[in-house]
Amino acid sequence: MQKMARNENVPQIGSEHEYRGIRYPNVVLDSSIDRIKTFQVREDDIWVVTYPKSGTHWMMEIVGLILSDGDPDQINRSLYSSPAEMICTDQDFPTSKEEEKLHPLDMSPFLDVIEKAPSPRVIVSHLNFDLLPQDLLKAKVVYVARNPKDVILSYFNFIGKNPALPLTLDKAIKNLVSGEMHWGPWPEHVRRFWDHRDHDNVNFVFYEDLKKEPAKYIQKIASGIGRPLLEDVLRRVVKFSHIDAQKETFKKMAESGKENLVKGAGEYSFINKGISGRWKTHFTVAQNEAFDEWYKNKMTDTDLKFAFE
Ligand code: A3P
Repeated sequence: MQKMARNENVPQIGSEHEYRGIRYPNVVLDSSIDRIKTFQVREDDIWVVTYPKSGTHWMMEIVGLILSDGDPDQINRSLYSSPAEMICTDQDFPTSKEEEKLHPLDMSPFLDVIEKAPSPRVIVSHLNFDLLPQDLLKAKVVYVARNPKDVILSYFNFIGKNPALPLTLDKAIKNLVSGEMHWGPWPEHVRRFWDHRDHDNVNFVFYEDLKKEPAKYIQKIASGIGRPLLEDVLRRVVKFSHIDAQKETFKKMAESGKENLVKGAGEYSFINKGISGRWKTHFTVAQNEAFDEWYKNKMTDTDLKFAFE
């Protein structure tokens, strides 16, 4: 992967900034966000789009397995190191501000790598529909949506591991409700993609459905991206995308030094419990009631309904 020279003036992981009214971690480059709008989409691209903590890495694995006949060792992970709008995150994350200053990351827009990659490209993004390429829907798009209470808890557990970004559950809830969570307001994100759910190239999938009936929804996704699966391949995709098997795959990659391709096994792992309804054991009654009140106001005028269990 191409790397640029170290540069003391570039933004660092562990800090965040606002761009056009939306907060992003500094690994997201404003210039990449601007460039994505006019990015050359290919008809055989597969775009995995999610609001953060909604099952992005799970869907990347599922799509990778679909394209590789259910064999995790054959997945082409070259475009998997990060969402398109980020820098290449194939370095170790710094653990403190001091370390960030001592070892600034090599900054390279990941988009540069994606632009040149051969087809079929699997491209990942957390950007909302309006920031993505104008002709996005000429490609196949898989959008994963997850109930926002579990999104909050997942975000809280994930960010909470980073000492540079202290976070309480109260603050995590407030961030989503106020639209200050990274990548912007959750309701608009899910609702804009829901508007396009009937488009031939869009596969709108709920995390909770995928958990309950993986075979059914994996086959639906495979058919949606033009790769319907034979029974035995489907069985392998279900098997290897199960959270326990995926943890094993990521552990093996970490042991062989390839962990950075997905950043899946270490301290900042994107795989944690993978349970639906886990928020129930963490939200207080007061937090839950306040959240429900906000949710009711934001989501009454839509037929987009989430399972919270
Ligand atoms: P939890 O934190 O609730 O466990 P993202 O990849 O968008 O950051 O999402 C992370 C969430 O997806 C985490 O949720 C993680 O455990 C869950 N996840 C990752 N792989 C999974 C899998 N194979 N099955 C179910 N959930 C998975």
